[in-house]
Amino acid sequence: MIICLCEGVSDREVKALVGNGVRNVAAVGRICGAGQNCGQCTKSIQRLLNASGAREGTQRDLGATHCQGEERALD
Ligand code: FES
Repeated sequence: MIICLCEGVSDREVKALVGNGVRNVAAVGRICGAGQNCGQCTKSIQRLLNASGAREGTQRDLGATHCQGEERALD
């Protein structure tokens, strides 16, 4: 299911990022763009993070999943 309509990012993609150690909404956004436009999906992203046990304040940036090939700068 697509959770970020602006960027076409699915819950599977976000779950994959979480499974690879991404731990906050900002990091998800930096990697695949979800939540970086209108922001309507940020609560959904946070719910996926919460369901995984992720907590604010910890993060690990990884290479992109579906975003590979997109030219997004990672901070
Ligand atoms: S729906 Fe995700 S930024 Fe707009």
